[in-house]
Amino acid sequence: MCGIIGYVGKERAVPIILNGLEKLEYRGYDSCGILIISDKKSFIFKKVGKVKELAEEIKDKKIDGNLGVGHTRWATHGGVDEKNTHPHFDCENKIFVVHNGIIENFFELKKDLENKNHKFNSDTDTEVLAHLIEEYLKEMQFKEAVLKALKQIKGTYAFLIGSLEKPNFLIGARKSSPLILGLGENEIFLASDPTPLLKYTNKFIFLDDYDVVFIEDGEFEIYSLLLNKTKEPKIEEINWNVTEVSTSDYEHYMLKEIKEEPRAILQTVAPRVNFLKKEIEFEELEKSKDKLKKIEKVVFVGCGTAYYAGLYGKYLFEDILNLQVDAEISSELRYRNYPFNSKTLLIVISQSGETIDTIEALKKAKEKKVFSLGIINVPGSSLTRLVDVNLLTFAGPELAVASTKALLAQMTVIVLLALYLAKNKKTALPIEKIIYEFKDLPLKIEEILRRENEIEKIAEKIKKFNNFYFLGRKFEYVTALEGALKLKEIAYLHAEAYPAGEMKHGPIALVDENFATIFINPYNSLFEKTKSNLEEIKARKGNVILISDKEENDVFAFFKIPTTIEIFYPFLTIPVLHLLAYFTAKKLGREIDRPRNLAKSVTVE
Ligand code: F6R
Repeated sequence: MCGIIGYVGKERAVPIILNGLEKLEYRGYDSCGILIISDKKSFIFKKVGKVKELAEEIKDKKIDGNLGVGHTRWATHGGVDEKNTHPHFDCENKIFVVHNGIIENFFELKKDLENKNHKFNSDTDTEVLAHLIEEYLKEMQFKEAVLKALKQIKGTYAFLIGSLEKPNFLIGARKSSPLILGLGENEIFLASDPTPLLKYTNKFIFLDDYDVVFIEDGEFEIYSLLLNKTKEPKIEEINWNVTEVSTSDYEHYMLKEIKEEPRAILQTVAPRVNFLKKEIEFEELEKSKDKLKKIEKVVFVGCGTAYYAGLYGKYLFEDILNLQVDAEISSELRYRNYPFNSKTLLIVISQSGETIDTIEALKKAKEKKVFSLGIINVPGSSLTRLVDVNLLTFAGPELAVASTKALLAQMTVIVLLALYLAKNKKTALPIEKIIYEFKDLPLKIEEILRRENEIEKIAEKIKKFNNFYFLGRKFEYVTALEGALKLKEIAYLHAEAYPAGEMKHGPIALVDENFATIFINPYNSLFEKTKSNLEEIKARKGNVILISDKEENDVFAFFKIPTTIEIFYPFLTIPVLHLLAYFTAKKLGREIDRPRNLAKSVTVE
């Protein structure tokens, strides 16, 4: 949601800002804007629509400034139109602001400023900051005015702030919305995440909440509004590959990222499995062994697909460890009076590490002294800095709005963690066999991905339906949830997931010859039970699409998966459903990587 990019250096800012905006598109947006400042002049362009349309408009213009800011807007306050597109200005059109987040007290601030004769040009909450700074400038210097204004803001923000009269000066500020600093050779960048900066640097500073960074004449200084003093910067390296943030030869990021699922698993497994000793080694957990021994209850928390990973974790931990385990949705958990205590382990799951509901759920649990682990994909993101220990997923950058490879990497960490915690505990599961199967799993997924044309044919057959059920039991209920969400998200088809056994308790009423039901039914201990449900759907003329390793001819469509052990079937069935959603969406002409109304990083509540 909303993307921010800023540049101060020696190069022309225009291509850097435009390229940055393009790389931030994946976050989701409806309009975009850019501001370039040179010694003599400033240039502002705004567009309701795509970054490439903005770039088209600018391409033949001679714009030479070395300071620039860009913004992709995902509307919250004020409609999607040019006047609400960032940057926003004060009355004199000198102080500029771009913003990601929500100013909760904007209404009161705006009323107060209007009483002082400030004239507003937009319906946004953002614009109040520019006027507030303008107001304080009457009695103090720019930096002090900015700090004073920021102290009045309630809500969440990542801001870039500057003045058209200061071509070597840029300010960044963050509270709850992401903002990072990238350090290049004689150039400094600010951005919502590392993706647009990997081309220029691997050195980053992840700003903390209440940090304000002042960039002036090539130098920077970080001031903390919380500590009321300047802070020592902590520079971190991210060694993501630049090719990982391009579509390479693929038509869509989503397809590329599905194809990267085997690699996401391998990369996440490699540092943590000693295949010789048949042991799991989590260096990250070395210092927490005693704490983990005392844990009596585990709670997984996340949103959307990350929540499904948590549900998978619940079923798996229940099987492997003799513990009480819950899987919770962040946006619910944060408002509940959940009985956390010091013997609860909270496992926070997030691809982006910036999902606001998950951040708030974690903060609430931390008040009760809960020990927390993070299964997060973006290093340095907000959640990585809030959890006690990070068990990062190494899926690499995920840019399609719909999460795919990150889910497989999250489930991988969950299996590894379960095995790690099961050490020296009695468990019915064949631990050594599970470790060994990790070697074959990526190869089995590769095999499925190579057979994409079979899945494409099924997509061709199902695209005519408007309504879908996805049914499975236990682990495959998780697959069902994921399959239904993906089909909804990117193909805009109505899909609901149920545990297969629930189907008789209501949902079956909708089934007829116009209805499609996708069964995920591997040949495991629950096969026969789910098979009965499948027959019940067929008996009502429903169209059955079956994913299984046991052949079945008498269905509308069938895809055969390789065989594996029970806990690993979702690793094989999920890629099938990812491809099925992808091809169905493609055949229906949907905008796959950036589906309508959605954003990659959900930083507003
Ligand atoms: C589904 C999807 C979303 C995210 C959810 C959590 O395809 O992408 O449901 O899984 O918004 O996002 P993260 O994992 O970044 O916390």
